Amino acid sequence: MPADILIAAELRELLPDTPVPAHTVEWLPAEAPTPAGPYVAIVPLLSRRIAEPELDALPQLKVVANCAVGVDNVDLDAANRRGIIVTNTPEVLTEATADLTWALILAVARRLKEGQVLVAEGGWTGWHPTQLLGLELNGSTLGIVGAGRIGQAVARRAAAFAMRILYADVSARPELEAETGARRVSLTQLLEESDVVTLHTPSTAETRGMFDHECFNRMRAGSIFINTARGDLVDEAALLAALDAGKLAGVGLDVFPQEPSVHPALVAHPRVVTLPHIGSATTHTRHAMANLAVRNVRAVLAGEPPLTPVLR
Ligand code: GLV
Repeated sequence: MPADILIAAELRELLPDTPVPAHTVEWLPAEAPTPAGPYVAIVPLLSRRIAEPELDALPQLKVVANCAVGVDNVDLDAANRRGIIVTNTPEVLTEATADLTWALILAVARRLKEGQVLVAEGGWTGWHPTQLLGLELNGSTLGIVGAGRIGQAVARRAAAFAMRILYADVSARPELEAETGARRVSLTQLLEESDVVTLHTPSTAETRGMFDHECFNRMRAGSIFINTARGDLVDEAALLAALDAGKLAGVGLDVFPQEPSVHPALVAHPRVVTLPHIGSATTHTRHAMANLAVRNVRAVLAGEPPLTPVLR
């Protein structure tokens, strides 16, 4: 039977040999363009753009099962116009991504990059009372921009560090507030009062570039900025300017506007930790993501409702 399903080749080792029984898979490497043809389903990585030209070339397509929670690589309106279902992989990656966010908060607050370099380059001459002094998290304020699933999981961890928690979100989260003492405030107040600001909002037409000069200017002097959401939420020139001006004590980034390219000034900066988009990269979570994406395909092709549809 000719292949009728496209699945990212990089997912192969995370999936059973026959991911969608009664269908044949064409394994599509990340560097290959999206082919044209009578495919009924595609499971892309977040690096693959699925928009008008790709959808025009896939006239039989029923489902785009994105192997990511973010769907900014998919033109949802274009899919919607064609009646194509789009699904993502929420829930299964929440805890892993919150852990990685905390890895960055701790690394930046306690200046791990500079410490590692000092030891590795033989510059460490012994214990010193004022060496590499960082931010005491206990009693500091954490500002969470976007309190969806991942933002909330980050907040729950903050309670263990005895941090005061602020969040800015279009919706109030009463359960989160009851559980962690988090308080909903405006973005302006959050920026003005937080020692650590962490981004957890999806990339949409409304949020792209939202973190601009004005936002960085409003942040406290000596605060920390963390982004494990999407690189294009941030105006990179504004971020670099805030770093140059000494406004930020440190920055932790897992995502970038033009991945996999990373601005060399960020890579070289001693107070900036840069990671290769590994928020959900645990063995458990990546298996769960790949399998959830494929279960969505199976459901749609069987005429059942998808498990995790992205609703417009
Ligand atoms: C990763 O960034 C995802 O959206 O799952």
